[in-house]
Amino acid sequence: MRLDKYISNATDLSRTDAKRLIKNAVVTIDDVIASNPARKIAADETVAIEGSAINRAQSRYFMMNKPAGVVSVTKDHNNPTAIGLMYEHRSDELQIAGRLDIDTTGLLLITDDGKWNHRLTSPRSDCAKIYAVGLAEPIESNYQEKLSAGVLLDGEKHRCLPASMEQIDDYHLTLRIAEGKYHQVKRMFASLGNHVVSLHRFQVGDIILDAELEPGDYRPLTDLEVASIL
Ligand code: URA
Repeated sequence: MRLDKYISNATDLSRTDAKRLIKNAVVTIDDVIASNPARKIAADETVAIEGSAINRAQSRYFMMNKPAGVVSVTKDHNNPTAIGLMYEHRSDELQIAGRLDIDTTGLLLITDDGKWNHRLTSPRSDCAKIYAVGLAEPIESNYQEKLSAGVLLDGEKHRCLPASMEQIDDYHLTLRIAEGKYHQVKRMFASLGNHVVSLHRFQVGDIILDAELEPGDYRPLTDLEVASIL
C-alpha cells in the first residue's frame, strides 16, 4: 500500500494531510525520513509520524440488520444503501459480503477485507445461509424431497446444491442453502410453483444475527465471528 494511503488508513488523517506531513519531513519509514507519498510500504516496515510509530490499519467487519427498502449495492441514486446507513470513517472502502434483495431483511455482512469477503461468497464456499421464508401458497409435502435433490432454477443448466427446510406452519419455513445465486431463494420456490412473500436472513455460517440489533442498526463482528469464516 502507498505511504499516504497507509497513513490515512491507520489514522484519522486524510490523504492530503498525510501528504502534507510527508512534505514536512516528519514521516519516517524504519527511522529514515520518507519523501515520496507513493512509496509502497512492506509488511515488515515501521512507519512513524514525529517519531511515534503507527500501526497498520486493522480490517473492519460488521453485521447489519438490513431493513426492507435498503439496497445492498455501494451506490444507488434511487434508494438508500446499507453502507449509507453507517457512520464509519472511509466508508467508501466497505464492501457487502453477500447481497440481499431490496425487500429482504436481516443479516448483512460488511467488510473492507476483500479476501474474507471472497471466502464467504465464492461459489466454492460451502458456508450455509439460513433464511426465514414466507410463501404465498401452502407448503407442499414434497418440498423437502425436492429441495434435498437439488432444485433446477429457471435459466440454469445445473441443479442447486441440496438444501434443507424445516416447516413452521402451512406458509412458513426455515431454509438452509449452501450457495448464493442471484435471487436464489425466490427462484427456488418459483421453480416449485410457489412465490416468496417474505424473506429474512438470520444466519451465515456460524454468524447469527444479533437479536439486539433493530432494523438499520449494525455492530462490529467479534473476533470469533470473523475467525469463523475460514
Ligand atoms: N435469495 C433471494 O431470492 N433473495 C435474497 O435477498 C437472498 C437470497
